Amino acid sequence: MEVQASMRIPLERSGSVPLYAQIGSFLRAAIISGKLPVQTRMPSARRLAGDLGISRMTVEAAYAGLEAEGLVRREMGSGTFVMALAPSPTRSSAEVPESWPQWQQDLIASCASWHDLPVLDVSSVVGEGVIPFESGTGDTRRFPLADFRSIMRSVLQREGKEALDYGETRGYAPLRRTISEILSLHGLQAGADDVLITSGSQQGLALVAQLLLRPGDSVVVERPTYAAALALFRAMGVRIVDVPVDRDGMRVDLLETALQRYHPRLIYTIPNFQNPTGACMSTGRRRSMVALAERYDVAILEDDFVGDLRYEGRAQPPLKALDRTGGVIYVSTFSKMLMPGVRVGFVHADGPVLKLLAGLKRLTDLATSSAFQRTLHRYVSIGRYEAHLRRSRRVYATRRDSMARALERYFPSGSEFDLPCGGLFIWVRLPPRYAAPELLSRAQKAGVGFASGEEFFVERSSGDRFLRLNFAAVTPEEIERGIRSLGKVIAESN
Ligand SMILES: Cc1ncc(COP(=O)(O)O)c(C=O)c1O
Repeated sequence: MEVQASMRIPLERSGSVPLYAQIGSFLRAAIISGKLPVQTRMPSARRLAGDLGISRMTVEAAYAGLEAEGLVRREMGSGTFVMALAPSPTRSSAEVPESWPQWQQDLIASCASWHDLPVLDVSSVVGEGVIPFESGTGDTRRFPLADFRSIMRSVLQREGKEALDYGETRGYAPLRRTISEILSLHGLQAGADDVLITSGSQQGLALVAQLLLRPGDSVVVERPTYAAALALFRAMGVRIVDVPVDRDGMRVDLLETALQRYHPRLIYTIPNFQNPTGACMSTGRRRSMVALAERYDVAILEDDFVGDLRYEGRAQPPLKALDRTGGVIYVSTFSKMLMPGVRVGFVHADGPVLKLLAGLKRLTDLATSSAFQRTLHRYVSIGRYEAHLRRSRRVYATRRDSMARALERYFPSGSEFDLPCGGLFIWVRLPPRYAAPELLSRAQKAGVGFASGEEFFVERSSGDRFLRLNFAAVTPEEIERGIRSLGKVIAESN
């Protein structure tokens, strides 16, 4: 079906809402309400621009926003088409009673691209009795609880008043100094004032996105990539351009075309032990990416979420260490190397960026918990952190090898995976006749979890033969048992 008549979209030309945003929200509501049914071919940008008496660029920006939200798809040479909406429990009439105020009904429509994102709750974290291959962290049983408890007690005894007050927005200065020392071990020359402490690195990602991106902008990500970063970019209403990853990280040879075609504002990359693939970007590609970003004047957001969990081979330089112009914003976290519940991550950037990010952080949560920062600082500076890391590396490397052996033994022939040299995950591709999303509930019934591939892709269906398996959060015994059960579930599904 094609929109034949000229489209009348009421526009407030002298209002404060940009025209592309007005067009975007009108079309979004029409798509969600079904007035523009699935597969409808939208008018070309040129025609709609003519109908509305505005520039073609404005319509392009509105279409780009809708595409980023997954509401339309643009096919080169054939046009822009309305996409099927993902089924949404909150969109059902049962959950959006008509008695709700209109603004609530509108809200559902305007958040269509991301409000289905599962919110972490206790049941999804604990998953009673299920072997947690879906986990995104290290082994919760290895959290250094006793040490942390005794340090926290002494922090509260000795500096309780300060620890329970608001701290500095930029973060507890002694912890920032320690972080700058950690960064220097990675070849990064950063002073304490070049570091902003955030509530987990997720907040770092969100602050950077909020600072740099506007609806209709483009962002380059890896294909596949971290699901909550994808959701974040969708929520920002930006166009997501994905560039494939192979075992050496993002295919930087394909990046330049994307930069030329989409003029993105940001490249988001996870160079070390990527989530979900485990790939580690080669030094050559790191250099090329930094050079390209410099040439095309694009910021790089480097997410180093598990950089210290390397099991073999030499460390590659962070992109930030190759950056001579202040083009790279580096984000890391204690969540995976230590414990996610401390909610301490950090950003290192140069120039005015850090100050602007600190300003935004203040608007978001004023400051990260001072009590936790002080406790973490003591824990890290007395060297227990290094010892904890060394032990974790040893334990997790053994678990990775156990999982690789179990996969060889129990998964159907034709399954493929690379052995990652660090991190938390093995990324498995099943042979063509299998579909991971269909296996998930059966696997859970059999007592095994996994992260299904489609959540890591912009085009979700591209991921349906992939499983992300966490080897670090589970014991070798659980690995053996869990992979055997998973192999059985897969075999029986055929
Ligand atoms: C790649 C990546 N980046 C960032 C984060 C955010 O972690 P946190 O906010 O706990 O630091 C995660 C968490 O799973 C992740 O996988």
